[in-house]
Amino acid sequence: MLKKLPLPYDVESKKILKKVINANKSLAELKGLIESLPNKFLLLNTLSLREAKDSSEIENIVTTNDELYKANINIIPDNSATKEVKNYNAALKRGYELVVEKEMITTNIIIEIQGILEENNQGIRKTPGTVIQNTKTGDIVHRPPQNYNEIKEYMSNLEKYINLELDEFDPLVKLGIIHYQFESIHPFSDGNGRTGRILNILYLILNKLLDIPVLYLSSYIIKNKNKYYELLQNLNNSESTNLDEIWEEWTAYMLDGIENTSRESIKLIKEISELMIEFKVIIKREESKIYSKDFLELLFEHPYTKIEFITERLGITRQTASNYLDKLIKLGLLKKEKVGKYNFYINIKLWSILSK
Ligand SMILES: Nc1ncnc2c1ncn2[C@@H]1O[C@H](COP(=O)(O)OP(=O)(O)O)[C@@H](O)[C@H]1O
Ligand SMILES: [Mg+2]
Repeated sequence: MLKKLPLPYDVESKKILKKVINANKSLAELKGLIESLPNKFLLLNTLSLREAKDSSEIENIVTTNDELYKANINIIPDNSATKEVKNYNAALKRGYELVVEKEMITTNIIIEIQGILEENNQGIRKTPGTVIQNTKTGDIVHRPPQNYNEIKEYMSNLEKYINLELDEFDPLVKLGIIHYQFESIHPFSDGNGRTGRILNILYLILNKLLDIPVLYLSSYIIKNKNKYYELLQNLNNSESTNLDEIWEEWTAYMLDGIENTSRESIKLIKEISELMIEFKVIIKREESKIYSKDFLELLFEHPYTKIEFITERLGITRQTASNYLDKLIKLGLLKKEKVGKYNFYINIKLWSILSK
């Protein structure tokens, strides 16, 4: 049976503490870098779709960057996968707002996130029968609590663990414990994996380890997906005699993930910032009349743009907007493409950074 928290094991071995330090270090560097940016929310728009895409892909909801970015600004209609990824993105952003506002992560917040993700308001599951199966063999690997009241008790225990200090582990160690516990309670009939991965990021926000939700933890999980399932499954086996080792392995996995993805995010953000400066210098030098901070930022909110965005944001006519965009094409900064009757414009270099 699933244990309530706090855990009866000492997860913070020497090996783990080393990883805790490294993960905290790179995360702090990421946080500092984001703080130094002139417009950090710009990044949120640009980057959150990627996390949404990777997290959904873990559940075999697969879309390409191209399809996703086009669908996101309605250049092409949604298909089922792009719709799910857009929902994920909306759920992440709403969760972020709620955590910033309430400075807590409650069961109700978690239910709201899952509701946006799944576009329904079923909440915690009421009908029994949910089991977790091995995705390859179909064997049942975990039977989460079945009874509605029992699930609510587990959730309230988890809520306490998230918001109060029930043990003295480092928040990054707790993050792994919380993720396992949430997935094992499996409170919803669907969307547990994705909701749990949104919670990971929100937990960092709650603990002020990050200011905006831009860590690609899901890209690490998708790259190490078999290990992710294997470790969760090992933890389910409450009869194992070496559970402290199994917990150590899981914790190490999550800490490595935080360290790796912090580093990757730092690299990516630096590349985007440098590219913005490059654009700024070129536009100011070659076409100084059309330069404005708003215009530049618009070109980096999304790798694709359309004339409507420019007219709305800058309050200029279609003719002038189209004129601006043509000038950037001549400078080699944008490329024009046509889908059906739509013209849209690609920030080629941003596109290649984001699709790496
Ligand atoms: N053995 C396990 N124990 C606990 N959680 C698991 C186990 N195996 C998989 N999971 C979690 O369950 C998730 C899948 O649950 P599901 O409700 O279908 O989520 P989603 O709809 O987001 O795919 C996986 O992403 C993983 O986080
Ligand atoms: Mg599912």
